[in-house]
Amino acid sequence: MSFRIRKAVFPVAGLGTRFLPATKTVPKEMLPVIDKPLIQYAVDEAVEAGCDTMVFVTNRYKHSVADYFDKAYELEQKLEKAGKSELLSLIRDVLPPKVRAVFVTQAEALGLGHAVLCARPVVGDEPFAVLLADDLIWNRGPGALKQMADLAERESSSVIAVQDVPRDQTGSYGIVATREFSDHFGEITAIVEKPKPDVAPSNLAVVGRYVLSSRIFPLLENTQAGAGGEIQLTDAIAALLREDRVLGYRFQGRRFDCGSHIGLVEATIQYALDHEDLAGPARAYMLDALSR
Ligand code: UTP
Repeated sequence: MSFRIRKAVFPVAGLGTRFLPATKTVPKEMLPVIDKPLIQYAVDEAVEAGCDTMVFVTNRYKHSVADYFDKAYELEQKLEKAGKSELLSLIRDVLPPKVRAVFVTQAEALGLGHAVLCARPVVGDEPFAVLLADDLIWNRGPGALKQMADLAERESSSVIAVQDVPRDQTGSYGIVATREFSDHFGEITAIVEKPKPDVAPSNLAVVGRYVLSSRIFPLLENTQAGAGGEIQLTDAIAALLREDRVLGYRFQGRRFDCGSHIGLVEATIQYALDHEDLAGPARAYMLDALSR
């Protein structure tokens, strides 16, 4: 079976409680780093990895994600009249011409696993990607999903992004045990959601990028609520391990947890320091602030 991915699923139906009150009306994935919302970085990464169908799993309160990827007629007309072609292409390029956006609703926030299952009618019977936009991955070379898509195709296998985290933080992540790594990847032998440090099988944590076989869907259907009372993607992956090979991949790049306050601050600093016009003023401000 070919493991080439064409469809990318973006679960954006979570409650985003860590960013209240902002997330009372703005979905977490619409929070900006400099001038782009987090969801745009994730979509760009999926396009680069070869995906042409973006499946957004939203809820009835999150119209702004759909509005963002919709055509903005009035604004486009105004910019066109004013001859502002650079700004015009910025808002037109949120999705390249041959890429389509599909929206499915998760009626209740029953967990990440449930959100992924909601995408089943659109994904069908082919391997697909899942991207959690609040995990922003910065890299000078190919994006994390492109790296994973290449590996999935080469190895005909599901691939999950992993990174080392400090032992005392295992309770915040899905944690994997693997066979020995070679060339940045290793076969996953076990996966557990949010284990306490003393029972964690390792300190290798799952990050929000997955390339998954569609066999995950029937497994998700049979997954009961787990950690935190939610239907966990991790539990369905644990079941997938019993029938299929799943690789853990240490991606190249730096991940920012933009679902947390400090992660969003760090990402903003990193992208500012990498920005043609902002790098100088940002550096000057930081030096000044630190000297006070
Ligand atoms: P999180 O665990 O970060 O939860 O979800 P959250 O509700 O978004 O945020 P906090 O913890 O309350 O601040 C991980 C990803 O899964 C999606 C979220 O949108 C996020 O991208 N998700 C989670 C859903 O789409 N549906 C759910 O039922 C749960």
